[in-house]
Amino acid sequence: MSKKLLWLTTLLVILALSLVACGSTTTTETEAPAEEAAEPTEEAAAPVEEEAAPAEGANQLEFFSWWTAGGEADGLNAMYEVFKQQYPDIEIVNATVAGGAGSNAKAVLATRMQAGDPPDSFQVHAGHELIDTWVVADKMEPVTFIFEENGWMDVYPADVIDILSYNGEIWSVPVNIHRSNVAWFNPQLFADNGLEYPKTFDDFFAAAETLQAAGVTPLALGDNGIWASTQLLETVLLGTLGPDGYRGLWTGETDWNSAEVTTALETFAHMLDYVNEDHAALSWDQAAQMVADGDAAMTVMGDWANGYFTSIGLAPGEGYGYAPSPSTEGTFMMLSDTFSLPQNAPHRENAIKWLTLAGSKEGQDAFNPLKGSISPRSDSDRSLYDAYLQSAMDDFASNEITPSLAHGAAASEGWVTAFNDVMTLFVTDRDVAAAQAGMAQACVDAGVCGQ
Ligand code: GAL
Repeated sequence: MSKKLLWLTTLLVILALSLVACGSTTTTETEAPAEEAAEPTEEAAAPVEEEAAPAEGANQLEFFSWWTAGGEADGLNAMYEVFKQQYPDIEIVNATVAGGAGSNAKAVLATRMQAGDPPDSFQVHAGHELIDTWVVADKMEPVTFIFEENGWMDVYPADVIDILSYNGEIWSVPVNIHRSNVAWFNPQLFADNGLEYPKTFDDFFAAAETLQAAGVTPLALGDNGIWASTQLLETVLLGTLGPDGYRGLWTGETDWNSAEVTTALETFAHMLDYVNEDHAALSWDQAAQMVADGDAAMTVMGDWANGYFTSIGLAPGEGYGYAPSPSTEGTFMMLSDTFSLPQNAPHRENAIKWLTLAGSKEGQDAFNPLKGSISPRSDSDRSLYDAYLQSAMDDFASNEITPSLAHGAAASEGWVTAFNDVMTLFVTDRDVAAAQAGMAQACVDAGVCGQ
């Protein structure tokens, strides 16, 4: 069985187990839920062009996302530009809720969907987030016909189509492939301190000691949305357990109470000795900025950070370096952003036009080079992608593939939420035993692990 098929099979097992008025874009930024809204993020300062609610009967496309930071917002805008050229009479209403990884947006979306007030299309992660949260709950329309009408069955890899499929239908249009286990670093700080980028956890801690002694923050973390810590931990679990052991965490085959998980949690807790003190007040892009500014040596973040670094004028390999996060070389921790068609979309025909663009070569090659992601299409134009993204294409083709927990691929949203709750305590008290017990219980509660 190929590596990708193995990953696909894993996902399927998990699923079974857990059963613009001409040229203008309007941005309506919904207020985030109360507890998150109190946390200032740079993302919240994203430009709000105009406040407007979508008008009944108007020729609009209301699109819901959380892409407001540098890079991710640029990618979305690039695709809007193509859409506006194709359909100058359709007004795009960009209903956005700031907060990385959808930390705020998902709650607002859930409220709207429950109230029967869906947007025309929304951003949703491939895998469990799409299938468990929306498809099984019968809130979506299948988009198989869009794939068939556009000949996409031949250009999308079967394993990507499979994680978007349920009951014989495809339920969303994938726009990219992201990698979450990437370490981004400041090459100058490494050179100044006579260090090579650390490949293993031991090397990481040795380098961190040297950097800290030199007065440099070794690891920048911005977890004002707890997902960023969850994402760091998923890379440590992968680096400790290896791809098979990591995959088994989401199928019940790897014991959450095992010594290897204890080791991973200890490693993660030890890493926190080397992060910036204000990590709980910063967003992921602010942590990336610390690396760009030379205030921190590294940050572990999904490759939307590549989009961020290029959006502030840095070039990959020069202004910033990149490498697989410690001890994860050879594995690509994958997630995919997709665009969906909710049932009763107010402007369904416009949503279909949007989805047709989003899945097209033209749309994806406008979006992904800025977003910091690669296209899942087999015919995308490699020459448009920078050195980092070309390396991601090569790794995606050759590495083991594992599903990201923090970004909806590995586990149901309920499980991710329970996991994030454990992480909120863990980053504060660093109580390994309590965290391990909480994570083991979350697996039981998700119906995947036995009592
Ligand atoms: C992820 C999403 C990425 C990126 C990131 C930070 O969940 O898949 O596309 O936007 O959040 O906002």
